[in-house]
Amino acid sequence: MKKKIGIGQSHSKIILMGEHSVVYGYSAIALPLKSIEVFCFIEESKSVLNRDPQDPVSVAIFASLDYLGEEAYISYRIASGVPERRGMGSSAAVAIAAIRATFDYFGQALSLSLLEKLANQAEEVAHCNPSGLDVKTCLSDVAIHFVKGEGFKPLLFDLDAYLIIADTGLHGHTKEAVEKVKALGDSAVPHLKSLGDLSQQAEEALLTNNLSDLGGLMTQAHKELKQLGVSSVEADELVAHALSVGALGSKMTGGGLGGCLIALTTTEIQAQMIAEKLEEKGAINTWIERL
Ligand code: PMV
Repeated sequence: MKKKIGIGQSHSKIILMGEHSVVYGYSAIALPLKSIEVFCFIEESKSVLNRDPQDPVSVAIFASLDYLGEEAYISYRIASGVPERRGMGSSAAVAIAAIRATFDYFGQALSLSLLEKLANQAEEVAHCNPSGLDVKTCLSDVAIHFVKGEGFKPLLFDLDAYLIIADTGLHGHTKEAVEKVKALGDSAVPHLKSLGDLSQQAEEALLTNNLSDLGGLMTQAHKELKQLGVSSVEADELVAHALSVGALGSKMTGGGLGGCLIALTTTEIQAQMIAEKLEEKGAINTWIERL
């Protein structure tokens, strides 16, 4: 039974450790950002919605319509608090919200596994060769350890720690960055392996509440990502600034070539101070998450 309006929601995500190496089968850790959300609204329309195979939202909606065997006499609207192309999972979150809204509009139940499958079809368009990490984290309420093709496990911790997320103001270029790493061939392997090792050590540090180790591992991961050529001058400057004003560790996050960085600290007051310093230094927006 069709509804007057179909509504779908998703939250965003941030990668703590393991971007890029996750594409090659190494483990990664990512966190849901439950307060940064996107909504999609679907309504009846007299005209048929345009099918655009290059647009992830269109791919998400048509994958749902094709699955349901429904026609596209619909229009959609997105309301998003997730900045686009900043490594915060905007494309995955929008796809999830759009699929949920389409199923909701047609009054159809949607299993988690089908939602994940359809959202990853949209991610094929937004990324090249997506690991599946973004969709999985946007569908999770807790932090996850993720290995491509193998699955995920929830990571449960409650630390006296805060993560500052800072936006360089530049669009990230995930697809280009993934292609850049691929083009490096064998010379990328030691860095990818090291990123995988750092991610595993970070999990240990998280689960044993060892924040100074965790910070150090994040900063080392940034150096590896920089050597892979996927960071940016702006992110490097803000990472260095976060460390100089007392962060325990800092790194770029997500695909890179722009986008966001993260920094670790122990108290909310300290997090606010670091966020302010990063904004003074050029970050266009900051968010604070308790770990
Ligand atoms: O830029 P984001 O947030 O979509 O993250 C991309 C993460 C990569 O590891 C670079 C790619 C992937 O598919 O996991």
